[in-house]
Amino acid sequence: MFGKKIQVELEKQLNRELKSSQLYLSMASWVEHRYGGLDGICNFLYDHSDEERGHMLKLIKYINKRGGYVDFFNKSKYYIVEKISYSSLMDLFHKLFEHEKKISSKINSLVELSLQEKDFFTYNFLQWYVEEQIEEESLIKKILDKIELIGEDKGGLYLFNHDIKNFYNKVEKKTR
Ligand code: FEO
Repeated sequence: MFGKKIQVELEKQLNRELKSSQLYLSMASWVEHRYGGLDGICNFLYDHSDEERGHMLKLIKYINKRGGYVDFFNKSKYYIVEKISYSSLMDLFHKLFEHEKKISSKINSLVELSLQEKDFFTYNFLQWYVEEQIEEESLIKKILDKIELIGEDKGGLYLFNHDIKNFYNKVEKKTR
């Protein structure tokens, strides 16, 4: 049985994934504008925006498969990215890390709700998101730690930009 309460909460999560996708996109654009040469960091953020869209798609398909309906015509229900500014690359990754922690806490609440509602299909479905959040928090934290070490040192950022391509590829391969 796919309860209304679960469906409503999953739709909220779908919105959060949409918002995450827009957030990563806006961050990529900001980095491209401000630090044009840092293409590795920029592409990491652009690619991750696509991944977040994938997280949203997974939810749409699940809701529809269970007999719900994701009604995109109700525009008032869907987020657009909020105005957010960054003072530096470090500030951007701090904000991103905080964002991912919030997403993790929402996923945890959804898991809790699925158990309360005895919806074990949804409980099982959500395990993918639990694993994903462990990886995402760890990935963004590792990037943040490195950027904190580098600060605004141009040589360090240049090397890190090169490094992130390999670092990101390795982590992504493990999680796919
Ligand atoms: Fe889909 Fe970064 O959470």
